[in-house]
Formats: sequence, C-alpha cells, structure tokens
Amino acid sequence: MRQWIDKLRATGELSREEWTALIEGRTPKLAEYLFAQAREVRHIHYGHDIYIRGLIEFTNYCKNDCLYCGIRKSNEKANRYRLSLEEIKDCCRAGYDLGFRTFVLQGGEDGYYTDERMEEIIRTIRSGYPDCAITLSVGEREHESYQRFFDAGADRYLLRHETYDAEHYGKLHPAGMTAEHRQNCLWDLKQIGYQVGTGFMVGSPFQTPENLADDMLFLKKLNPQMVGIGPFIPHHDTPFADRDAGTLELTLFMLGLIRLMLPRVLLPSTTALGTIDPKGRELGILAGANVVMPNLSPTDVRKDYALYDNKICTGDEAAECRMCMERRMKSIGYDVVVSRGDSLV
Ligand code: 5AD
Ligand code: FES
Repeated sequence: MRQWIDKLRATGELSREEWTALIEGRTPKLAEYLFAQAREVRHIHYGHDIYIRGLIEFTNYCKNDCLYCGIRKSNEKANRYRLSLEEIKDCCRAGYDLGFRTFVLQGGEDGYYTDERMEEIIRTIRSGYPDCAITLSVGEREHESYQRFFDAGADRYLLRHETYDAEHYGKLHPAGMTAEHRQNCLWDLKQIGYQVGTGFMVGSPFQTPENLADDMLFLKKLNPQMVGIGPFIPHHDTPFADRDAGTLELTLFMLGLIRLMLPRVLLPSTTALGTIDPKGRELGILAGANVVMPNLSPTDVRKDYALYDNKICTGDEAAECRMCMERRMKSIGYDVVVSRGDSLV
C-alpha cells in the first residue's frame, strides 16, 4: 500500500477503489510512512510555521436540527446566547493584541442575523482591522447573501460538506437538508471569490470507508483553500448520544492523506481532535496539519457553544489558550506566527 501513498504524493490522485482500500487497509506502520511524507510536503510549502485563527462563537441559536449537533434546535436544554456587536468587537480587540490576524465568526443558522446585521458586523471589523482576514462560518445562505457579505469585506468562508454521499448525509440530517444544497453553497462561495474551507467529520454514525473515499474525491474536485476535519464526538442531548466517537487514529490518517492530496491546503488540527486526546492537536500537526483555531469567545458563553461533549478550553481565557497553544507547538518544534496565513492555493 506504500505504492498508493507514493502515487498520491506524485500525482495527487487516487481512484475511488484505491482510496477505499487504502483507508480500510491502513496499519500503524503505514500511518507512520504517511505522516513522514505529509510532514515533508507541509515543510516544503509552510515550513514549521503554525497559523492561528481566532474563533468567535457569536450565536448558538440554530434553525437546523442536525442529528449530531448539540446546538440543534430540538435541544431545549441548550442555553442560548447571542453576542452583541460590542462584545464581538471586544473579542477582536483582545485577539488582535494576542497576535491574531484572522477572525472566524462562527454561529448556528440564526435568523436574527439578517443580511443587514451581518453586513454591519463585517463592515465594523473590516474598518477596525484592515490587516486582518475575516472568515465567516454561518452555514447555508442564499447566493445573494454570500455576495453581500463578501462585498462588505469578508474574505473567507467555512462550510463543511459533512459527508459527500447523499444517502449518508440523509442519515445525519433531518428531512429538508440535502447534500446537494450544501455542495451548491460551496460552489457559490467559490464563484464569488471567497477562500473556501470545507470538510467532514471522521467516524460519524453510519460512515463507511466508501463514504470517506467519496469525501476525498469531492475535496479534490472542489480544491478548497482550507479543509477542516475532526472526529465525531457524541453530545448527550442529541439522537446520537450513544454512538461511538470517531477515533484519533483514523482522523490522523485522514489528515495525512489530505496533506498529500492537496499539498498547499490550510489544514487545521481541530479542537475536536484535542478533545478526544490530550495530545490530539500536536499529533494532528505531526500528521500534516498547519493551523490551529484557539477560542476568542468570552469565557462566560463558551460552555454554551457545545456542539459535542467535553469540549476543551471552555474555562480558559483567550490569552491562556494563546499561550498554551504556543507552548504546545514549541514542544513539537513548531512556531505560532503572527500572520493572516493566506492560502497558497
Ligand atoms: N462532533 C464533532 N463535530 C461536530 N460538529 C458538529 N457537531 C459535532 C459533533 N457532535 C462539527 C460539524 C460542523 C462544525 C462546526 O462542527 O462538522 O460543521
Ligand atoms: Fe485552550 Fe490550551 S488551547 S487551554
């Protein structure tokens, strides 16, 4: 199977059958081989630099009902909050002083944030921080809304496709949400000119190696600037409360494969990975990732942005996470840098 990894590195491509067999047949030894290659490729393009993104979770209201997610609308136990523009500005100020040059505004699909309200937030950040990138992560919207946000000054958009396969997508989402619509949003975003991030959960309920193979083929086709993946982790107040979490081992393997397939992609080592293993984020970097996304949300709301159980960093101040991250990266020979960290794609 090393041949397939060599082929992947040389050509950036594998067939659906090869992807499936490689994922299914992976071994610890093969993983070591993969990670060494992935680090090499990552060092060629990004050296030992780690880009940081300041995550601002500005609303946990959501009109959707994704079966895996702790802030789904049916979860009546979720303690709902919205940050005011002033609070968002405070997060940016604190983040800027800590060296963040990308702000990620992430939230549930919250109807309170009309296009006008989003534009106001974006324009305010854009004028206050002309040297920073503004990333949005607010789900599926109309093409026109995406265009308006872009015109207001947003640069990037994160929207995980979650799973490419329509049938698998249907098992993770309520009727009315479709894989097709989600993917169309991604093509819209790309066409408008955003730097786009997509991705999927590893080990989500019902996921097969074939599903992951299709996810890889979709990533290849979309060729996004960023790919966010992390293990599925159950949340106790969702229909998937009793399901198994995705594993560290498979998540790391997928990170390595993504680095080889898309050599210059921005690849975060996610909070979910840090949640299933105390050294998860470090191991993600060593498997080929080059981005981390510490939390800038105010401490008093953090525990309420609970997409899954046991999320890390919910009690820590932004400054603590920033320093903690620097220490963690140093410990494995990498440097957190003050930079927008634009994609080379
Ligand atoms: N476990 C892991 N990741 C989750 N997400 C949502 N719920 C969970 C969960 N239970 C991920 C989704 C979403 C991103 C913001 O968080 O992939 O796109
Ligand atoms: Fe938040 Fe370590 S990154 S406490």
